[in-house]
Amino acid sequence: MGMIQSTEEFQSRIKRVLISESEIAAAVKKAGEEISSSYDGHPLLLVSILKGAFVFMADLCRAVTVPCEIGFMSAKSYYEGTTSTGKVTITLDLEQDISKYHVIIVEDIIDTGRTLNDVVKILKARGPRSLKVVTLLDKPSRRVVEFKADVSLFTIPDHFVIGYGLDCGEHYRNLPYIAEYGE
Ligand code: IMP
Ligand code: MG
Repeated sequence: MGMIQSTEEFQSRIKRVLISESEIAAAVKKAGEEISSSYDGHPLLLVSILKGAFVFMADLCRAVTVPCEIGFMSAKSYYEGTTSTGKVTITLDLEQDISKYHVIIVEDIIDTGRTLNDVVKILKARGPRSLKVVTLLDKPSRRVVEFKADVSLFTIPDHFVIGYGLDCGEHYRNLPYIAEYGE
């Protein structure tokens, strides 16, 4: 995939809308309500993995009606061929000492499962009061490492998707819906 040259080219690669703005909004509202009732009275920290989850985080935290704090992380995973070396490098870390919090990881998509598998291990080792994973999208057919999110808003087939924070070559994060990408 080359550098996008024009708006026409940008638009021509948006093959079809997979999940609309209103479908996303309804699912995010429901997830926010569930979090609000489960964590009421507990110190809650929402942690999102940059960059893909930034839009989901922005909407989900505003659907949460109980007190919560927000944190961001950035992680890079390293692999030998198709095998995870188990070496994930945290390139941006949380400021918070998570041992004081019930933590929810807010992720954009689980694909092979490698990134979250590693991030969850790292965060669990820091002794949070509890740790759960909420993902906007799940592509279970692509799993390489066994990994199951506690909450998944949408299960999708094996398509490369863009929009609502998800990119292809750093473009398309600004689409307000989830679309299938095609050259
Ligand atoms: P995993 O470690 O293979 O589960 O990969 C997770 C990361 O890969 C996600 O957080 C995304 O940043 C990226 N990713 C996986 N599938 C897609 C996709 O269909 N579109 C855009 N990014 C994706
Ligand atoms: Mg991501």
